[in-house]
Amino acid sequence: MNERLLINEVGPRDALQNQPTLVSADDKIKLIRLLQRAGLASLEVGSFVSSKAVPQMATTEEVVRSLGPSTPGLSVLIPNLKGFERAKEAGVSEVAVVLSATEMMNVKNINMPLEKTVLVCEEVIRAAKASGIRAKAYVAVAFECPFEGPTSREMLYRLTRQMFDAGADEVVIADTIGAAAPMQVREVMTDLVASHGTDRLAGHFHDTRGMALANCFASIEAGIRRFDSSIGGLGGCPFTPNAAGNLATEDLALMAAQSGFDTGIHFPELIAAIEFASLITQRELGGRSAQWLKRRYQAEAA
Ligand code: COA
Ligand code: ZN
Repeated sequence: MNERLLINEVGPRDALQNQPTLVSADDKIKLIRLLQRAGLASLEVGSFVSSKAVPQMATTEEVVRSLGPSTPGLSVLIPNLKGFERAKEAGVSEVAVVLSATEMMNVKNINMPLEKTVLVCEEVIRAAKASGIRAKAYVAVAFECPFEGPTSREMLYRLTRQMFDAGADEVVIADTIGAAAPMQVREVMTDLVASHGTDRLAGHFHDTRGMALANCFASIEAGIRRFDSSIGGLGGCPFTPNAAGNLATEDLALMAAQSGFDTGIHFPELIAAIEFASLITQRELGGRSAQWLKRRYQAEAA
């Protein structure tokens, strides 16, 4: 049997949060069901943040309720205790907290200084674990911050350790603005794997400079087997200037498949999900491999 590589689909949250077209709860639910049908068993389906700050996420309760909150593999992003209480109330089985590795990014994103964010994340992780909820922590701007420049590795390593010490089940190293390069990623991931092992670490790369797939491969070489990506490469962050989309799920899945990993993803259904995502966001979507995949699988179906 091939080695497993886990793809966590973040399109319904990281991507839709940033779209100018308001996507309805029904369309989000349809998209998530298509993604599940394509074999994506791990999905970030929304966030419990202020709907004034991110209007696209105002429907997360409805989305979660309709999907069945206890479905394994569904997670929601939360910025604070209020978000955690909403998640618990909704019955979700997994939450993701987010802290940024620089002062300015924390303030811009969730209006809290760095050390306060650390305390809040620790508190939420402990509360989640006490309630039997899986907790993961994103360390955002892990390589570079749009406001402060290159991120200190010591800070990244310290924050990662603090999240594990608080009880996080997983820490996601996030290149929020897509500024990292493969050699650097391999070094950082190798250091982190030496301290924490491979099972509890994940990578999240944006494709601003076209290096997200190479950064995933560099992480794979360091032993990482869990990655976030977004259907059709949609994405970005409303609080981060010039952050382009996430790595496209289809590009990651194809690279993984061609490299001999098992991701559980079926490409014809994945193409259907890309087409639906294009429709609801009114944008032409698709990673680098999308056209090739369409030709390949449409030819097969013909
Ligand atoms: N869910 C919903 N509403 C929330 C909330 C949450 N998790 N946390 C706070 N609020 C509400 C408060 O109740 C308050 O409402 P009111 O004005 O009706 O009284 C309002 O938001 C302001 O609360 P406050 O605690 O002062 O927060 P803030 O103004 O400092 O904003 C955040 C902090 C985190 C709520 C806000 O910055 C936010 O939601 N950011 C989104 C971050 C995000 O999604 N980033 C992208 C992903 S990384
Ligand atoms: Zn992101």
